Amino acid sequence: MSTDTRNLTNDIIDREQHYVAGTYARAPFVLDHGQGCWVYDTDGNAYLDCAAGIAVNALGHAHPDLVAALTQQAGKLWHVSNLFHSAPHARLAQKLCETSFADRVFFCNSGAEANEGAFKFARKWAHDHFGPDKTAIVAFTDAFHGRTFAALAATPREKYQAPFRPLVPGVRVAAFNDFDAAAAVIGDDVCAVIVEPVQGEGGVNPAAPEFLAGLRALCDRHNALLIFDEVQCGLGRTGTLWAYQGFGVTPDILTSAKPLAGGLPMGAILMSQRVADVMHVGEHGSTFAAGPLVSAVAEVLVTRVSDPVFLADVKAKGEYLKERLEEINSPHITAVRGKGLMLGVDVDTPAAQVIAASHRRGLLIIPAGANTLRIVPPLIITRPEIDLLIERLSAVFADL
Ligand SMILES: Cc1ncc(COP(=O)(O)O)c(C=O)c1O
Repeated sequence: MSTDTRNLTNDIIDREQHYVAGTYARAPFVLDHGQGCWVYDTDGNAYLDCAAGIAVNALGHAHPDLVAALTQQAGKLWHVSNLFHSAPHARLAQKLCETSFADRVFFCNSGAEANEGAFKFARKWAHDHFGPDKTAIVAFTDAFHGRTFAALAATPREKYQAPFRPLVPGVRVAAFNDFDAAAAVIGDDVCAVIVEPVQGEGGVNPAAPEFLAGLRALCDRHNALLIFDEVQCGLGRTGTLWAYQGFGVTPDILTSAKPLAGGLPMGAILMSQRVADVMHVGEHGSTFAAGPLVSAVAEVLVTRVSDPVFLADVKAKGEYLKERLEEINSPHITAVRGKGLMLGVDVDTPAAQVIAASHRRGLLIIPAGANTLRIVPPLIITRPEIDLLIERLSAVFADL
């Protein structure tokens, strides 16, 4: 690395540290470009990207089909607002409905916004059918639903909530994967229950299928809507297009975001007709949501990841990766869990320390809590790349 490139790198890091609000602890290098499962920094170092922009870049970096869709649409039409029809928006909505339980879609721009919207749909549904007192929302321990106010109220972690009280009222919390705890808080005053089929930020915790089935039954008994937050675990990540399809339990509302537009900001609320029926013109909205540019890219993304051959490959590679992680012979690893290409590795040292060491070995991974490593590579990762990931991670553990 030349002095010039090091100076450039330091200059960028200094500017970010000086001018950007300090809500993130960024890694000490500057990413410049990417291709497939690899990203490259301004000093010329290559990293195998098993973070995928926090489970976003499902087709990796600079995928030729996404680049083609983006560049083609970029010269045609970017933004018109939701006051006008556009073809990519209409086609994407149809594709999402045809590949899921949903009859209708509401688009937005992020995961938190999708969950905020889902709560509004649920409150309106309950209000119109059962009156003004059916407003409670049930969420679970270790959940993560986003940083905006209602999503934050359903994200029960002191670190996230404490400085921002008072929170939006009306959210009850029960223990994740504990049916009796859920039954104790789900009554007739509940309008919605929100759960991640596989918790992401909270430690990569898959729900027990019986737990989700139990929530479905409780929601049916108490006329509440079941919301699956598939912002992180949806769109192929767990080996089925939608995570719920791998659990055999169907929600009333599903929220999606992260990989939806391959790395461009987009969120979506998928819902059944009876939910959609309660919202009318002007009752919810978003200026930017599902503009032609982002929708054109998302259409390609959803087409690619919904291919059964692609999904079978994700499932097989996920099983292979899990086996290979379990083979790493390190006393620092205490558990490996997850589904598909969404895996968590518990360690007996701070996850941040392992992650920093991984960076030095040319590997990008991220934490899910203080002592869990999260491995969420692009879904296009190859077996030789998985072998390389294991090789590099084994070396990191050997160094500890
Ligand atoms: C399950 C889940 N829901 C919601 C969110 C919030 O998404 P966003 O950061 O796009 O607002 C996240 C983000 O990590 C998530 O993992």
